[in-house]
Amino acid sequence: MLIARTVPELREFLGRYRRPAFVPTMGNLHEGHLALVQQARPLGDVTVASIFVNRLQFLPHEDFDTYPRTWDSDCEKLRSVGCDLLFAPDEHALYPEPQTCKVHPDPALANILEGHFRPAFFVGVCTVVMKLFACVQPRFALFGKKDYQQLMVIRHMVRQFALPIEIIGSETRRAEDGLALSSRNGYLSEAERAEAVQLSKALRAMADALRSGERDFAAIEARAMRSLDARGWKPDYMLLRRRADLQPPAPGQPLVALGAARLGMTRLIDNLEIDA
Ligand code: PAF
Repeated sequence: MLIARTVPELREFLGRYRRPAFVPTMGNLHEGHLALVQQARPLGDVTVASIFVNRLQFLPHEDFDTYPRTWDSDCEKLRSVGCDLLFAPDEHALYPEPQTCKVHPDPALANILEGHFRPAFFVGVCTVVMKLFACVQPRFALFGKKDYQQLMVIRHMVRQFALPIEIIGSETRRAEDGLALSSRNGYLSEAERAEAVQLSKALRAMADALRSGERDFAAIEARAMRSLDARGWKPDYMLLRRRADLQPPAPGQPLVALGAARLGMTRLIDNLEIDA
């Protein structure tokens, strides 16, 4: 696996390829990331991953400084799944001057849910993803469905800017007990890790309620909030939304249940597509 630290190094290596398949990450890689790389391999003529902890998508009180940087094991993992090239710029290489030109995604999609609780988060995500796309010029880019809203915001950005990139969403990888794999799971204490599965259980309970015919969406959402609250979580939202645009649902449309909640100091998110 080659490692490019600068944009010119990256471009020199990629010059001979026409269809890069790209997996952007912030490192601290888990099975979910590796599955994306494995899915990317047969798509393109070269498989590229990036590791860049993007300051722009963290709020001042968030975990930018403490976000786990696990370089050696990340490289080993990427090699083990056949990644050809790792783009790992430092901040100066990706943002040589203050990044004052930013991508502001559609507020209807980006200012709700995560964007409501983490203002400017999607501006940071879209800005870095656009920049990574400009550097790598991928033909395919792969993102996990665990960050469901992020995937939708990026798809919308790519469509609106007519970028010649196919965005591929990959199913969430879960631990045996059902907890969605996430780089932030590493923050959990042993007791919190045992409790963490309750977020996906609460989403499943929402799906079960719909499948059993209940149609009072607000009551289902309130019950999910209460169930986590009663166990000591601090839920930000547990909501049923339309899969098409993440707006409040009307009967008969494909839905997704989305949740975000804090367990101790760790904020977890998860979601479940529902075929009611
Ligand atoms: O999902 C992530 O890890 C990040 O938001 C991304 C897409 C790599 C942008 O920094």
